[in-house]
Amino acid sequence: MLRPYSIPSSRAVYNDRNAMTDERIFSSRPRNEEATLEATLRPRRLDEYIGQERVKGNLRIAIAAALKRGEPLDHVLLYGPPGLGKTTLACILANEMGVQARITSGPAIERPGDLAAILTNLEAHDVLFIDEVHRLSRAVEEILYPAMEDFALDLVIGKGPGARSVRLNLPRFTLIGATTRYAMMSPPLRDRFGSVYRLDYYDQGAIGQIVERAALVLGVAIDDEGVKEIARRSRGTPRVANRLLRRVRDYAEVMAAGAITGGAAREALGRLDIDGLGLDEVDHKILRAIIEKFRGGPVGIDTIAASISEEADTIEDVYEPYLIQLGFLDRTPRGREATRRAYEHLGIEPQGKAASPQRPLFDA
Ligand SMILES: Nc1ncnc2c1ncn2[C@@H]1O[C@H](COP(=O)(O)OP(=O)(O)O)[C@@H](O)[C@H]1O
Ligand SMILES: [Mg+2]
Repeated sequence: MLRPYSIPSSRAVYNDRNAMTDERIFSSRPRNEEATLEATLRPRRLDEYIGQERVKGNLRIAIAAALKRGEPLDHVLLYGPPGLGKTTLACILANEMGVQARITSGPAIERPGDLAAILTNLEAHDVLFIDEVHRLSRAVEEILYPAMEDFALDLVIGKGPGARSVRLNLPRFTLIGATTRYAMMSPPLRDRFGSVYRLDYYDQGAIGQIVERAALVLGVAIDDEGVKEIARRSRGTPRVANRLLRRVRDYAEVMAAGAITGGAAREALGRLDIDGLGLDEVDHKILRAIIEKFRGGPVGIDTIAASISEEADTIEDVYEPYLIQLGFLDRTPRGREATRRAYEHLGIEPQGKAASPQRPLFDA
């Protein structure tokens, strides 16, 4: 059962931060109209959650063990690029444990008092889900440490020399943190999670299954070719797959009697300026900037961002991980470099380091 916290600022923060990317296919977070759709498409049980087999296998064992002991699940940290299923998995964990999930996010918890209020309202074994957990302030983190370790809340009562500290016991709960930026989390916070799972991009087969499942839920007919066309351009990301499916469905309804065939999918997707690998205009701009303005790199992320008027955060969170996964971009200590594969994909003659035959093609 879901009883989400109504912390009003959370959505505002998302929107504000992603205002620039909001209209794009690959924008990292769900848009308003999309939020309801995501809720319908979201799997509720671990068995419905497609892919991420290793993570699922470990979680199954952890759930069974916790249930057997009658204890809450250990604190879990989920990390990976946006749209891969972190929020979905957190809700599933609460569901499988038979407890409520309280949902909030790092930027929504502004003051230590906000977190104290959330913690004291938890019931035994509840799941507290904190999205973007890397964005918690230091002061808020300080409250979280004893809560995670000892299920205790240290309160200071009074001011000045008469101030004294009291310790309040909290119910035992499970914290599930999600982040797109593992490296930005403070080490003491990281260390307090009993288990840490990295979600990876999904392979074509898994994305295909996600598309089929979503089509079933939405009640649209789709053939194998249609599934393949969408899966191929979804950059291994369920949120993108669902988004593309929706676009194709609209097109098929108007132009192809409602059924999504390979042809209908190709035509619909062809209108979205997404290439055969799922790269959009911004990916192309990033690669072209590195190649054409900075001779293939290395070049710093802020310089790239400035040269294409994009936010460095968006590039790092949304675009770069997939370009690295494809083996188009290398992260080096001196900055980002375009690989030979990137030149080839763009149809540009490799220059500089990328032209040298000894260079490994990619090591993703
Ligand atoms: N493993 C999965 N199987 C099926 N659908 C998924 C899976 N992971 C994510 N989705 C779909 O993708 C959407 C985005 O997932 P979400 O959990 O919000 O991603 P994140 O929190 O990592 O940004 C969800 O609404 C859900 O429909
Ligand atoms: Mg999420």
